[in-house]
Amino acid sequence: MFPTKVKRLLQLRNTLWGCASLKAHCSRLVLGIETSCDDTGAAVMDETGKILGESLHSQKEVHLRTGGIIPTVAQQLHRENIERVVQEALERSHVAPSWLSAVATTVKPGLGLSLGIGLDFSRRFVRQHNKPFIPIHHMEAHALTVRMHLPVPFPFLVLLVSGGHSLLAVARGVDDFLLLGHSLDEAPGDTMDKVARRLSLIKHPQCSTLSGGQALELLAKDGDRSRFPFRTPMGQTYDCCFSFAGLRNQVNMAIMKKEAEEGIEQGTLLSCVKDIAAATQHTVACHLAKRTHRAIVFCKENGMLPSSNPILVLSGGVASNEYIRKTLSNITETTGLHLLCPPAKFCTDNGVMIAWNGVERLREGKGILPPNVDVCYEPKALLGVDMSAEVRAAAIRLPSVRIKIHN
Ligand code: KG4
Ligand code: ZN
Repeated sequence: MFPTKVKRLLQLRNTLWGCASLKAHCSRLVLGIETSCDDTGAAVMDETGKILGESLHSQKEVHLRTGGIIPTVAQQLHRENIERVVQEALERSHVAPSWLSAVATTVKPGLGLSLGIGLDFSRRFVRQHNKPFIPIHHMEAHALTVRMHLPVPFPFLVLLVSGGHSLLAVARGVDDFLLLGHSLDEAPGDTMDKVARRLSLIKHPQCSTLSGGQALELLAKDGDRSRFPFRTPMGQTYDCCFSFAGLRNQVNMAIMKKEAEEGIEQGTLLSCVKDIAAATQHTVACHLAKRTHRAIVFCKENGMLPSSNPILVLSGGVASNEYIRKTLSNITETTGLHLLCPPAKFCTDNGVMIAWNGVERLREGKGILPPNVDVCYEPKALLGVDMSAEVRAAAIRLPSVRIKIHN
């Protein structure tokens, strides 16, 4: 065994050697920073998309206990963690700030108070180290994540579903999107989180540390979705927009009815939680599938996707749901598209996807700003050019598709 002093020297030598060799063969490195919602994430990536080091601090458990995200709490937690998370990502990658080619940070859309922490930190960092700054649109990053692992060519159709958004868009380039539809009220992840909260799933032994969406997916595996035949939203609106508030209302009514039948108070676990979870998840999946089916038909009618090997990318936190993936694969199989999803770990928020978006922009020289330019965060920001009115005007009626999913 080596004495401690020798071990430390060896460690230092390895670190320095690692650094020197890294610097020698990596031309450009990007630091990515994410704070748009409840995850403080940072990662360092080289120009080929190799993750050199990453760090992620999730606030999930705090928000689960307080019954939802309180923006001032999220802000405080980002403030307490950002320095350490960025430091950790740099240390794990053995990269010094001076070696970075750029810093990419989410500046829109998201919670203003959360975005502000990442942006303020980044602004100071790029000025201190004199680095170019790449402001990132959070949904653009979700859309491009898949290209980190697979050479997916533009254009492709993308369905993004998360705690804050749902949208369908044609990705035509790194910063070129045509928005076909978006949520008119809440996002599917938000709906699933609220249903889980209403069902008090935090008290369920298997679900106490899971996000609402994860909890519903787990319970739904043993549930009977046909016991609660919820209506799929917007059946009479022939566009690609989404609405989940009405579904949440339907689920709440069913929960109240069951509580009355079982003679229990709100806050106590119902005996039929698994069936409600299965029915909610199924209805969310069907709604996403129908709007996506219409988007595919619209794209085909308008020649917006390649005729050979057209692709649907599914990403965002809710895209880690296996049942939703399988439902969408029913649609892609019927319509001749190929479904691609990033690994579940990269569907939910993280610093890696922001670093990758930075790499994509750096490669193309798009949206790279000098260190002293003033950038503001934007809590609301559509992705790309809004074509939802044209899609609505086309009023495409869909042939019915039998969704075959086996739990
Ligand atoms: O993309 P994301 O990490 O954050 C936002 O940008 O919003 O998505 C978080 C959302 C949460 O609402 C969470 O409940 C949902 O993704 N989610 C899931 C699953 N895992 C996370 N929803 C359904 N099924 C899952 N397995
Ligand atoms: Zn997200």
